[in-house]
Amino acid sequence: MTKKDTDIKAIQKLVIEAGKKARKETKGEPEPGLTKPIKWPVECLVGPGLEGAIACETKIGYVNGTKGWLIYRGYDIFDLCAYSTYEEVSYLLLHGEFPSKSQLASYKEKLVKYRSINDTKRYMMGFPIERMDAMSALRLGTNMMRQEFTYADQHLYKADVGKIISSDEDSIPMETVPMGEEKAIYEFKERRKKRRTPEDIDPTLQSPCGIESCYHLIAGVASVAAAVARLKQGRLPLEPDPELSHAGNFLYMMTGKRPTPLQERIMDISLILHADHGMNASTFAAMVVASTLSDIYLSVGSGIAALKGPLHGGANEQVLYMLEDIGKPEYVSTWVKRSLKEKQKIMGFGHRVYKSYDPRARVLGPLAGYLAKKDKENNTLFKTARKMEKEVVSALGEKKHIFPNVDFYSGIVYSCLGIRPELFTPIFAVSRVAGWTARVLEYLQHNRIFRPRAMYTGQFDEKYVPINKRKK
Ligand code: COA
Repeated sequence: MTKKDTDIKAIQKLVIEAGKKARKETKGEPEPGLTKPIKWPVECLVGPGLEGAIACETKIGYVNGTKGWLIYRGYDIFDLCAYSTYEEVSYLLLHGEFPSKSQLASYKEKLVKYRSINDTKRYMMGFPIERMDAMSALRLGTNMMRQEFTYADQHLYKADVGKIISSDEDSIPMETVPMGEEKAIYEFKERRKKRRTPEDIDPTLQSPCGIESCYHLIAGVASVAAAVARLKQGRLPLEPDPELSHAGNFLYMMTGKRPTPLQERIMDISLILHADHGMNASTFAAMVVASTLSDIYLSVGSGIAALKGPLHGGANEQVLYMLEDIGKPEYVSTWVKRSLKEKQKIMGFGHRVYKSYDPRARVLGPLAGYLAKKDKENNTLFKTARKMEKEVVSALGEKKHIFPNVDFYSGIVYSCLGIRPELFTPIFAVSRVAGWTARVLEYLQHNRIFRPRAMYTGQFDEKYVPINKRKK
């Protein structure tokens, strides 16, 4: 067996073992809820930030927080990580089933084609990317892709407002009959068919709303993220290599080095792990934008914006800084005790849905360990992280159901792959584009503009006072 085969087999074994451990440890937990079709209107207990609210039905993915399950289209995440690829998984999320050989071949061809975003890269080189936050730059690049690939900004391309309004913006939910599917599909996906294509629109340009745009985004956001990585280092973006897989090419375009099979497989698994995760904040943000019948590029741009925050995707970067700050395993105890005493949230721990060990962290932990053992600096980070996990779980595991989340080990994995912390969250976005686009397309089948309400607790009957008569 070659070194390459040994590494790949070892990684697969680690994933399979993580899956077995997860199933064993959560066997006694209650069976999943929230799996039946909804009869609207639905009654549910809602907390602030819409916690507990049910907004739609989905067949795309399922998260069971007490069992620590993550399912895409019926498939367990551990099996997907052990046996599948990001190409297959992104296709599965979008289409509902795995591709056949020929479907996979033509999907891969499309991804190769759509990885070339030369105009976008040229436009981006005109911006001060090196001084921009990587997620802002990613969002900018996604907008540029829209410009390059679609006719969305052509002056004759306009939404027919009269036809798309299915309910008043201020209507109380359930007050009017949803006109979702008919109107949404009509306007969001098939504008081009319904409107005469004006002569001055370049016929090679595409709709900003259909499945081709999803493929374009899945392929192109990776190229944008890689270009951001290069530009931030004062280097020119690279051309994609059509011979490489999605994960391999992404690493190559980011680092300028052809990855080893081990590095490629680890990135592939990371992309699979982050591809979808229920109605999280960024997915919800993307869906809210799509529900107004905006378009899929702008929906994905909103997902990127939401993912940036440290309470969501931005935590992975913060975890690495925290581990570097702690420095060594022997300093962990004091650091954790102080943080808990000061009631600080420790980055990379806790989750709104998982009240058990996050299955993604179960995979990423051993992968980080496998990679780090060959690298002194990262090995210290890894050992510090393992010690921290022990300390935090013993303090908060049973008491508050706080365990490591996906972001706790992903940073060490990326660091071992030679990627700088500011690019960790863009990698999350590169993967999550699959989930965002799949969920947006699914939601539009029965579209209803999102419109929750707020409880007004302010004043009434205030009288206007001219500025020169105000007291302050
Ligand atoms: N470190 C220490 N304590 C934590 C904690 C953490 N990371 N996460 C939650 N807690 C504690 C809270 O202080 C709170 O304690 P209290 O009941 O004594 O006030 C309790 O657990 C519940 O916290 P809450 O913030 O209500 O949980 P949540 O479900 O709203 O929060 C997160 C989920 C992810 C926002 C939260 O765990 C967090 O901020 N984690 C750190 C950031 C992070 O890693 N984000 C990535 C998520 S994938």
